[in-house]
Amino acid sequence: MANQFDVTIIGTGPGGYVCAIRAAQLGLKVAVVEKRATHGGTCLNVGCIPSKALLHASELYAESKHAFAKMGIKAETSVDFPRMMGFKQEAIDGNTKGIDFLLKKNKVTVFTGTGKITGPGKVTVGKDTLETKSIIIATGSDVAKLKGIDVDEKQIVSSTGALALENVPATLAVIGAGVIGLELGSVYARLGAKVTVIEYLDRILPGMDLDVAKNFQRMLQKQGFAFRLSSKVTGAVKGKDKVTLTVEPAAGGTPEAIEAEVVLVAVGRTPYTEGLGLDAVGVKLDNRGRVEVDDHFQTNVPGIYAIGDVIRGPMLAHKAEDEGIALAEILVGQAGHVNYATIPGVVYTNPEVAAVGKTEEELKAEGMDYKAGKFLFLANGRAKANQTTDGFVKVLADAKTDRVLGVHIVGPMAGELIHEAAVLMEFGGSAEDLARTCHAHPTLSEAVKEAAMAVAGRAIHS
Ligand code: NAI
Repeated sequence: MANQFDVTIIGTGPGGYVCAIRAAQLGLKVAVVEKRATHGGTCLNVGCIPSKALLHASELYAESKHAFAKMGIKAETSVDFPRMMGFKQEAIDGNTKGIDFLLKKNKVTVFTGTGKITGPGKVTVGKDTLETKSIIIATGSDVAKLKGIDVDEKQIVSSTGALALENVPATLAVIGAGVIGLELGSVYARLGAKVTVIEYLDRILPGMDLDVAKNFQRMLQKQGFAFRLSSKVTGAVKGKDKVTLTVEPAAGGTPEAIEAEVVLVAVGRTPYTEGLGLDAVGVKLDNRGRVEVDDHFQTNVPGIYAIGDVIRGPMLAHKAEDEGIALAEILVGQAGHVNYATIPGVVYTNPEVAAVGKTEEELKAEGMDYKAGKFLFLANGRAKANQTTDGFVKVLADAKTDRVLGVHIVGPMAGELIHEAAVLMEFGGSAEDLARTCHAHPTLSEAVKEAAMAVAGRAIHS
């Protein structure tokens, strides 16, 4: 029968589309509802993928300016910004078309429009009514707003506008020293903008290991970033070619003015549930506007589930994907599960920052007896050869059992290196397990092994 499904998923971001594919693989009849013209949600359309394309292109440009000459490469390079934006668009198109293909291949029925839940087992999309055994809310998140600062996506932009600027601004003020602020700040700093980051807290990258964050801040300062920590923006006045921000010490005090051609507001994201009709069906939200779910992703209304940014936990594409897979498996009676203790986090700057597990601050707060092993890339052969020696790997292990509790990296390819630590932790491995695993030479990964060796005070190269 038409419009009857086992599962209807609202939203085809990384959570929704992955859940749809896994559910189809498991033999369920699946529908997805998406209001954007293309699948992939924030991540593919206005987030992870376009930002990584710009980070890649701008990094190569920066390399051409700062690293080529010392390697004996002579080149005159300059930026064709519209073409760079074209490169970004190709990244988006390539990825969103890939999702189209996968949904078709898995015989997932696609409805385009805003999905509204009109009762348990009922979703409407425009004139269509879908009858479905289960409903999955995978509607993601939206940019968090800052009081008194209106985003126009031209002079005052969110990440969406920052990914679609027409020119490289001479000056960029970034509000928020989180992941988005530092990644997109990096793009424009490399392309020539003078970047000032204004952060409410007394540190950058809250939630990341403090040792890593402090060192990383110094590296960014060397790249030309200016930081105003412990500061809050209390107003923004738009002029013809510039925005004037009023910035005050977070604890209160004398305000000062900071001018910038473009202002990027990157103070977090909020769960997106608009238009879903959750009130009418009685789906409960928590005090932060997130859909409340149990350990099996079910809301308080039987048959209605939620995954991804719209529920508790880190707002990360890979967390949403894993929840999508787990939920599809739970729906067919399997033991779907997400281990929240081993979700890696990566900041795709240069150098990259990556983490899995607990930070030193968290372990101290828990009163945990731990040992730290640290290894500098300065002593890693491959990093020395490449002259990318900024940063370190830190392995934190239980002092009694040696079980690895957290790994933190700031350095070249950190976002790739972190995964051997994630696998190790998933299997409950010890620092010694990592230290005794043979690592190819010469690789950056040897720094991870040496940091594990350093937990027992036996790193070879330091
Ligand atoms: P965030 O939560 O990472 O950082 C926001 C920053 O803004 C924090 O440092 C916070 O203290 C600061 N802040 C908040 N209010 C402020 C105010 N009024 N004045 C000054 N500073 C203020 O949020 P962000 O960077 O906007 O990213 C949103 C989400 O997207 C995050 O959950 C992030 O994990 C995710 N994301 C992940 C990426 C990755 O995994 N590489 C890339 C981009 C985004």
